[in-house]
Amino acid sequence: MLIKKSDGILSSEITPESIYKERRTLIKGLAALGVAAATPAWAASRYDIADGMPTYPGPEWLQSQINQGLVGDRFSLGDKLTPYINAISHNNFYEFGTDKRDPARNAQAFKTDPWRVSVEGYCNKPGDYHLEDLVSEAVLEERIYRLRCVEGWSMVIPWVGIPLATLLKRFEPSSKAKFVVFETLYDPEQMPAQKSRFGALPWPYVEGLRIDEAMNELSFMAVGVYGAGLPPQNGAPFRLVLPWKYGFKSIKSIVSIRFVEEMPNTSWNAAAPGEYGFYANVNPDVDHPRWSQATERRLPSSLFSPDIRDTELFNGYGEQVAHLYAGMNLRKWY
Ligand code: MTE
Repeated sequence: MLIKKSDGILSSEITPESIYKERRTLIKGLAALGVAAATPAWAASRYDIADGMPTYPGPEWLQSQINQGLVGDRFSLGDKLTPYINAISHNNFYEFGTDKRDPARNAQAFKTDPWRVSVEGYCNKPGDYHLEDLVSEAVLEERIYRLRCVEGWSMVIPWVGIPLATLLKRFEPSSKAKFVVFETLYDPEQMPAQKSRFGALPWPYVEGLRIDEAMNELSFMAVGVYGAGLPPQNGAPFRLVLPWKYGFKSIKSIVSIRFVEEMPNTSWNAAAPGEYGFYANVNPDVDHPRWSQATERRLPSSLFSPDIRDTELFNGYGEQVAHLYAGMNLRKWY
């Protein structure tokens, strides 16, 4: 665990060596690429960003928007934030490799600005939009959400972004839009794992929601984290965040939004339907076929300092989302 450094103690003495080394590598890599910015002191203390750890500024239009201030969080469950270093160095972004450290290692040169998003299907305003035009007029919010991965680890992340409903409504979906489908960029030149024909998943990565889930007040489109831009390994420049669902639903680096009538095929569900459902709501009573979902490892958690917690139904957000599934058998619709 990262502990606040007191005078005279080297951070290498109070931080596990692996995290210390990871941090050094990241800082060096970021500086070499010129993508990092010094973290202001207020942000370092508010968000548990280690001394000397730079953050990702994001594009200029985003920086000026963030500087105007963020609307405060309405949904925090009061958890302690995950230290920044863990959130940006322990990632799942299979397009950059399957090891948790691969995205931070392999995504630093990923080009995320300018960025275009195509909108298609049952709506009155389809088109090919600049991300800046979709976000720069909006008031940005901060949402402190739990993130529970289907693998059994969890974090608590302060996201910056806009409600998904605000975004989707501007495209005026029609009554035929029963589901919405999202796709990640397909660009094997930039995303090394997409070159392999024997990769973990067929590309591009696809996710989807029922339209009422998408319009729920918790569904969020993030363009930043920890009061700054979104690091490439966390899905820059534009990703979904769905705190009551397993993390694989929160698709990263989105380039396509499509309104459709039928439940879509989604990446993990299509790859292993017996293991990953379309809904993927966090549920301690429905185990993964190969492991229990009753508890989770809240990061940072190590062998010597374990932080194991009971997993909650809908990840603790039942008040906002339980009505969406009223009358459904959650064992069947996992
Ligand atoms: N999106 C894409 N495009 N590719 C991925 O591999 N992994 C998912 C999700 N979104 C993934 C993705 C999984 S399994 C999780 S747990 C979260 O991203 C992890 O988000 P984080 O790395 O920001 O913690």
